[in-house]
Amino acid sequence: MAYESANSSGFSDKWWVPVLGVLMMVICFGPVSQAKAAETGKEIFEDQCTACHTIGKGKLVGPDLAGVTARREKSWLVRQIKDPERLIEEKDPIALQLLREADDVPMSSLDLSDAEVAAVIGYLKSVEKLAVVTTGIPSQYMPTVLISLIVLIGLTLIGLKAGNKNVDVR
Ligand code: HEC
Repeated sequence: MAYESANSSGFSDKWWVPVLGVLMMVICFGPVSQAKAAETGKEIFEDQCTACHTIGKGKLVGPDLAGVTARREKSWLVRQIKDPERLIEEKDPIALQLLREADDVPMSSLDLSDAEVAAVIGYLKSVEKLAVVTTGIPSQYMPTVLISLIVLIGLTLIGLKAGNKNVDVR
């Protein structure tokens, strides 16, 4: 039914081909760009942070950063990474507590740009999400899974329609 009315109004049967194309691009390139950001974040982390921090391998000069994006506010994290000395000057209670736990050795300000700070936080998040694998699908992949499901359902419906049409012809 829907086919006939679509055809008479000048629409092609194949309207879903470009739609599928766009969906495929979203599916293929969405996670790639995220992974790229995590990649530079990883480089920054390995260059500038591993001297004092591990992720899940215990305390060095600074605290173990495993789970840090979950236990702190995003805005606090940005400030801590961008300008930790300032937080201590402002007597931020968390920063002072961390400073005590680090035997009064403060984290030095590293002069990272906003983009670099965001990339490092993205990396910290991506590492945490990988740790989630045992409990379920990391939320990073949820959009991909959902879109794939929708595409599958759509293809099934189109298949059913095409099947019905053939039956009608015979
Ligand atoms: C010279 C050693 C040193 C370097 C290099 C360093 N940190 Fe730190 N970091 C610390 C210390 C010490 C603390 C805790 C005391 C404080 O806040 O000053 C800390 C605290 C933190 C915290 C808060 C942890 C928590 O439990 O809330 C984060 C997040 C953090 N650092 C991220 C980074 C990132 C990201 C980098 C690299 C861009 C980095 N640090 C580089 C020493 C360092």
